[in-house]
Amino acid sequence: MQQTSPQAGDQVTKAVVPVAGLGTRFLPATKSVPKEMLPVVDRPAIHYVVEEAVTAGLADVLFINGRGKQALEDYFDHNTELEASLRAKGDEAKLRLVNEPTELAQIHSVRQGAPLGLGHAVLMAQQHVGQEPFAVLLGDDLIDAANPILERMLQVREQHGGSVLCLMEVPREDIALYGCAAVSATDEDDVLQVTGLVEKPPAEEAPSSYAIIGRYILDPKVFDVLERTEPGKGGEIQLTDALAALIDMPVEAGGGVHGVVFDGLRYDTGDRHSYLTTVIRLACERDDLGPRLREWLRGYVSSEMPSAD
Ligand code: UTP
Repeated sequence: MQQTSPQAGDQVTKAVVPVAGLGTRFLPATKSVPKEMLPVVDRPAIHYVVEEAVTAGLADVLFINGRGKQALEDYFDHNTELEASLRAKGDEAKLRLVNEPTELAQIHSVRQGAPLGLGHAVLMAQQHVGQEPFAVLLGDDLIDAANPILERMLQVREQHGGSVLCLMEVPREDIALYGCAAVSATDEDDVLQVTGLVEKPPAEEAPSSYAIIGRYILDPKVFDVLERTEPGKGGEIQLTDALAALIDMPVEAGGGVHGVVFDGLRYDTGDRHSYLTTVIRLACERDDLGPRLREWLRGYVSSEMPSAD
């Protein structure tokens, strides 16, 4: 197999988290609450995403923010009034909970201005990221902590250079909801060479059932490409289109795209059904809430669940 080497200065230290989307699938709640702030049990979805980045060694986190997303920055900042009140009451346990997000990562943010697409959102990170490879984690995509896919993607970047996508096999009829990758095998079962990319193809035109999900390791070359990427599907500047252009560029020039196959659990908290199942599943796994909730669910499902007819 062809051996490629990553570029010099290729340590990944920064995570970019785009959160400037409009969240229209979750209206009306997302009219005034960012979807990334919707609680997944008792933490907002974004807490899990930042925690995942930090666990993978990426404690420098840049939010690509949009209008009405101030709540996200506030969540990771101190709330001195609340802290003083809890301190006065001697409620150390709640004080720890309130301070946990402030200690998690170094949070930075930049505004996207207008939600012109995920590719445009990523381009806003250029100044902060500079000439280093970087990770992108979508703020509404949760990856089960039992499957630390980001670490594996970082290894693949180190090994092959270029950019690395996270690919998940989905039912053929669902592929139109995702970016889709044409792939060929490599020596490693969980790593695929990406040979083509297409955003949200109709099932009959999709080159595979591999969907791109919300984790990326990107070569900084992507910024040059994004600067010239025209609006694509849905009139948005698509990250998928920029990645497609990187496929045929030599690794020495920042090109080349691999995919890591993810077969763990992933939750899309921007989708109502997926959000509800995420909350139930994660709550069931918790020691403090799980036993009572599971018992209630069992009773509800067996006897009290309203029938659809
Ligand atoms: P989505 O496709 O989920 O779009 O974006 P959305 O607008 O947020 O949600 P819906 O489909 O209207 O419900 C994928 C990710 O890219 C970010 C979103 O915040 C989300 O994390 N994004 C998208 C931006 O930051 N800027 C954009 O212009 C578009």
